[in-house]
Amino acid sequence: MAYTETETIFSIDTSAIKYGIGVTSEVGYELERLGVKNAVLITDPNLVENDAVKKSYESITYQGIKATIYDNVEVEPTDISFKHAIDFCTRKAFDGYVAVGGGSSIDTAKAANLYSTHPARFLKYVNAPIGDGVAPPGQLKPLIAVPTTGGTGSETTGVAIFDFLEMKAKTGIAHRYLRPTMGLVDPENTKSMPKMVQACSGLDLLCHGLESYTAKPFSQRQSPNTPGERPSYQGSNPISDVWASKAIAMCSENIVAAVNDDNNYEARSQMLLAATFAGVGFGNAGCHLPHGMSYSVSGMIRDCTVEGYPEDHAIVPHGMSVVLNAPAVFRYTAPANPERHLKAAQFMGVDVSGADPMDSGDILANAIIDLIQKIHIPNGLRSLGYNESDSRTLAKGAMPQHRVINLSPRPVTENDLTQLFMDSMTLW
Ligand SMILES: [Fe+2]
Repeated sequence: MAYTETETIFSIDTSAIKYGIGVTSEVGYELERLGVKNAVLITDPNLVENDAVKKSYESITYQGIKATIYDNVEVEPTDISFKHAIDFCTRKAFDGYVAVGGGSSIDTAKAANLYSTHPARFLKYVNAPIGDGVAPPGQLKPLIAVPTTGGTGSETTGVAIFDFLEMKAKTGIAHRYLRPTMGLVDPENTKSMPKMVQACSGLDLLCHGLESYTAKPFSQRQSPNTPGERPSYQGSNPISDVWASKAIAMCSENIVAAVNDDNNYEARSQMLLAATFAGVGFGNAGCHLPHGMSYSVSGMIRDCTVEGYPEDHAIVPHGMSVVLNAPAVFRYTAPANPERHLKAAQFMGVDVSGADPMDSGDILANAIIDLIQKIHIPNGLRSLGYNESDSRTLAKGAMPQHRVINLSPRPVTENDLTQLFMDSMTLW
């Protein structure tokens, strides 16, 4: 087969999605339809008494399907917590997976499904250069994802993210085979989400939208040698743009009400739907620098705790570690495509009529800062305990994130990243 030098093809893959109030109770029906007889329900210990888990369990057993609960998921999972779930699922030989929770539970289920279906040394499927980046040899078992936070979009993507403890780096496993068979997206499940969890997961989804919309276009990537080598993070493309732009607008319209008014069910429902839209966008286009940089921000955190998150160890919520880099990044990347950056600000509700595209980086950065101030996000990386002297180390930690760093519309060196971290210390 002859291939041109630059990519001419893009694809859109997504999980099947069902959205709506009460859809959690259809998990048993879907498993039965998929021929599952012996399912594992994967969740984290904070959720095991939650209605979403109870309803899922009842729905599965109602169909006469055997259900085992695994509730040892770590929030912001690690290679150790992944391996624990993998061992459990390999021993029990389940033929179907249900993940109930945030990205941590869904990602853990993806990894457990992968390694129990196609056993291998742990680093074999992990993204290069940390792992070998080998593609899984075939399809996995059915996985149904029931998200309980509106952010990660993990129910739509083929990516599982974890902290690789010995390198203090976040990395992941990425392949279309990891994508859940179906996502059941139920607004009932996000009703009781703490304010800060809503804020951080909402900002994660906002950045998914902004990054996939501004990512290097698919047509600037080299075409793969074989169709199987085409990455799932392909770069921005006409279809992912539709999902990303809609997600940015829905999030910007609803996030303040969803965070500041716990009883605003409509705003919270819209945020959950927006997260799924953003997931379809970035699951195919990919993210770039704010996410790439976030992995060292969260991997090197020393002493930060945030209300609504586990307090037994230092943790920075994923969405927070991403959004704090975003203003500096978009000021830096705007010259690569000023019109797209201006459009992104427009999707966020900014009146850009008469704006000079030369100012698009500042306009987009200011829109993000304005929004995060309204939902009480801390002022930059300094608030998480970092200072300028950490910038070089943070940059070194981010450089290996090739899969996302290479999607930046404007190339970066380690020095550029160091400067971007410096510029992210204080935002206003
Ligand atoms: Fe994210």
